[in-house]
Amino acid sequence: MNSVFANLPTTIFDTMSRLAREHQAVNLGQGFPDDPGPLDVRRKAAEAVVDGWNQYPPMMGIPELRQAVASHYKRFQGLDLDPDSEIMVTSGATEALAGALMALIEPGDEVVLFQPMYDAYLPLVRRAGGVPRFVKLKPPHWRFTEADLAAAFSPKTKVVLFNNPLNPAGVVYGREDLELLASFCIRFDAVAVCDEVWEHVMFDGLRHQPLLALPGMRERTVKIGSAGKIFSLTGWKVGFVMAAPHLMKSLSKAHQFITFTTPPNLQAAVAYGLGKDDAYFTGMRANFQASRDRFVAGLGDLGFSVLTSSGSYFVNVDIAPLGESDDAAFCQRLVVDPGVAAIPVSAFYAEDAVTTVVRFCFAKKDATLDAALERLARLKKR
Ligand SMILES: Cc1ncc(COP(=O)(O)O)c(C=O)c1O
Repeated sequence: MNSVFANLPTTIFDTMSRLAREHQAVNLGQGFPDDPGPLDVRRKAAEAVVDGWNQYPPMMGIPELRQAVASHYKRFQGLDLDPDSEIMVTSGATEALAGALMALIEPGDEVVLFQPMYDAYLPLVRRAGGVPRFVKLKPPHWRFTEADLAAAFSPKTKVVLFNNPLNPAGVVYGREDLELLASFCIRFDAVAVCDEVWEHVMFDGLRHQPLLALPGMRERTVKIGSAGKIFSLTGWKVGFVMAAPHLMKSLSKAHQFITFTTPPNLQAAVAYGLGKDDAYFTGMRANFQASRDRFVAGLGDLGFSVLTSSGSYFVNVDIAPLGESDDAAFCQRLVVDPGVAAIPVSAFYAEDAVTTVVRFCFAKKDATLDAALERLARLKKR
């Protein structure tokens, strides 16, 4: 068996969801919304199943979707992407990431990763033969410095894998951070693989800035998006990957032999959805922001030390002021009594973890959030 996967433990998401079921806990662990997603987009998918094309679609994605992706990113991020040579549809962002790492890394190449990181990154980098070089991010701001990057980059750096907005931290990196990262990518001739699945789920008037748009980055950036996050339809697994033609050639070769395609009916529905008017996107953001505000205010009233969440479905609590120093043990207790499932942020580190931060998913109905707050109040009263 391959040691990368054989040695992986059960993911914390599975463990916490199982415990949540066993103890009838309010599950704010795994990151999926209660909202069923826009009805018109779901209807389009249903119509496309019944009346549309159900055989293999083109390997790069159906032309309507590639065109819709190009128009969407022109409208929201000012990008000029050629739908024929610079856009490819994948089965979720995860497939796009796996394909990009397989296509770009030769065994022994170094890959810069920022911890805390999405759980798929490290096994995929290792399986592709990459050697990880970690940048450790810490609360409360989770920002990186020039010295951090200088310690991680080397002449062997081939790829930097960058997630913005960052899950689980809920931080949104702006121009200054991106410029610093871009300067290192250019100096070390590295390709940036940018996981931007949370690009629409941002709050307080913030707007996403893609690294690909920075000077010198157009030719060395792979941008990855996900319809699952844009439309709160996380089970659909429709992703898109964007890159200059010389990179896309290799990316498409990897995709060809991983999934080859993605269900054509879901692609048709996503093409329709990406063209929805601005009101949908601002409304979606406003709804998630209202949930965030409700939950954060409730946590604040209970005296929890809440870290800023500017994007994603998540907010973090610093448990050090509670006298806690082991987030995993804290979450194991929390799910049993008072019965709230959360995720220990240490699970997003491969080494030298921060162990005093706990992540809650607030993309839930008000009643679910209120029920969680009531239970957390019991904890504080002890
Ligand atoms: C940072 C990040 N990347 C990738 C994904 C997975 O995206 P998809 O479901 O499109 O594969 C997620 C899902 O939570 C995520 O948070």
